[in-house]
Amino acid sequence: MNLPNSELVAAARAARENSYSPFSDYRVGAAIQGADGRIWAGTNVEFVSFGLCICAERSAIAKMVSEGGRKISAVAVVTKDGATPCGMCRQSLLEFAPDPEKVLVWVVNDSGSTKQYTLSALLPYGFLSQEVK
Ligand code: THU
Repeated sequence: MNLPNSELVAAARAARENSYSPFSDYRVGAAIQGADGRIWAGTNVEFVSFGLCICAERSAIAKMVSEGGRKISAVAVVTKDGATPCGMCRQSLLEFAPDPEKVLVWVVNDSGSTKQYTLSALLPYGFLSQEVK
């Protein structure tokens, strides 16, 4: 396993501090490193209409895209139990990861235990049709 980029993990941890999760009380921080080295972090945002909830990973993607980033090179996700990103977030990360086998995803728990995956291992056979205009 490569060592996780400590700046990336710190950014995910800091974003988690701002988690708005009054319904689940499950706080998530995510940080994305772009191909140019820039880092964007996001946290989960919940709504009383539960289906509207935004995951931390997609919150970070929205920030990246808003600031002109288009290519993901690495991701860090911090939760209390070190959970991996949900399926919707895996597919969303894939959108900006032309080489998913090269994109490292680190998941970190509260005791600092870290696991490393590639995006392609987390989402084999994701949807990438060239026929969608
Ligand atoms: N959540 C994330 O932020 N990322 C995931 O990949 C899965 C789940 C959030 C959504 C919700 O606010 C809370 O965790 C509990 O599901």
